[in-house]
Amino acid sequence: MALINENYLKLPGSYLFAEIARRVAKFKEDNPSANIIRLGIGDVTRPLPEAVIKGLHTAVDEMADGRTFRGYGPEQGYQFLIEKIIATDYQSLGINLDVDEVFVSDGSKSDVGNIQEIFGVDNKVAITDPVYPVYLDTNVMAGRSGDLLNGKFAGVTYLTCNADNNFTPSLPEEKVDIIYLCFPNNPTGTTLPKGELKKWVDYARANGAIILYDAAYEAYIQEPGIPHSIYEIEGAKDVAIEFRTFSKNAGFTGTRCAFTVVPKTVMAATKDGSQYPLNKLWNRRQTTKFNGVPYIVQRGAEAVYTPAGQQQIKALVSYYMANAKTIREGLKSVGLAVFGGVNAPYIWLKTPQGYDSWSFFDKLLHDVNIVGTPGAGFGPVGEGYFRLTAFGSQESTQEAIDRIKTQLSL
Ligand code: MLT
Repeated sequence: MALINENYLKLPGSYLFAEIARRVAKFKEDNPSANIIRLGIGDVTRPLPEAVIKGLHTAVDEMADGRTFRGYGPEQGYQFLIEKIIATDYQSLGINLDVDEVFVSDGSKSDVGNIQEIFGVDNKVAITDPVYPVYLDTNVMAGRSGDLLNGKFAGVTYLTCNADNNFTPSLPEEKVDIIYLCFPNNPTGTTLPKGELKKWVDYARANGAIILYDAAYEAYIQEPGIPHSIYEIEGAKDVAIEFRTFSKNAGFTGTRCAFTVVPKTVMAATKDGSQYPLNKLWNRRQTTKFNGVPYIVQRGAEAVYTPAGQQQIKALVSYYMANAKTIREGLKSVGLAVFGGVNAPYIWLKTPQGYDSWSFFDKLLHDVNIVGTPGAGFGPVGEGYFRLTAFGSQESTQEAIDRIKTQLSL
């Protein structure tokens, strides 16, 4: 008889955003005329930048011509894109990378989910609480979590991030091997200054740990002194893997293109204690299980690095950051405590007195037809918090805030 992977049975019934979609669909069915404003999932709404569209069109034409048609590309991504990534995103920060240290992929969600495959099952994993659910759920699926007891997996180290510690995780008391960090943070929208990130790099170096650094929102950093890449921290190239995406800076959530940096100097140990480069393992994993991102899409991503593309993505980020400001100020004006939204497209708020995360979700949906994300869905410490995204249109964001100000009784 075929047996299932029983680790899946340890997971909550459905993925957070699937559960929200289910509740919203039910509400819409019961209230077909409701004009719902969706500020829940962090999905972009603006069209792709013109430069990207141009890059995509040219590549489509190439695929229509026998002389320029392409079949399978390199699993790791085309060199034309990787070279631009290195020059624009890293050399500008004083970071040098080799072309075989960057792996182009179809998304950071897949990469942060898949990366745990190259690590042994006995590693102790640390995540922040609250956290982007993919880091935790994929480790549960792999059998690295232990059982769920009172809302927490017994084998996972949770790093509390709340208003009391200014959303700054403390180093763990017990020794951990794999640490997931995401800054600017999803879901709290807060950041980590260089000095704080350095503590983690130093910890990893001292303890033989690896940091999986999700920098999906780095383009949203507005203030100086906040690292755009973990490799800005000395020594990080020995202990950190970094994930970046075109989803949030260039609107690729539906187009799919991202990249993961695995420096050849990042090592982990075999059971007999010898050191092995993770770059080699990730390359082996990708070449076995992945056939690369479509040529057309990589040409679209390449266009992000043209002067016009760079200017257009800056304009996109500014557009969404204006929404972040509208949300922050609007919520503050009705007396809510708000966090994030200054260097990130997420605003994290304390739910009003008398509401937990899900009851506030229901209230917003039912009373003012606004969809947000309950903080409890991101982990136990997220209870009592709520997330709104700045990725809506400026008109609908303004409308949402107007409704909250005038129609929501708290
Ligand atoms: C979110 O809402 O947290 C995002 O959609 C995460 C993602 O990009 O998968």
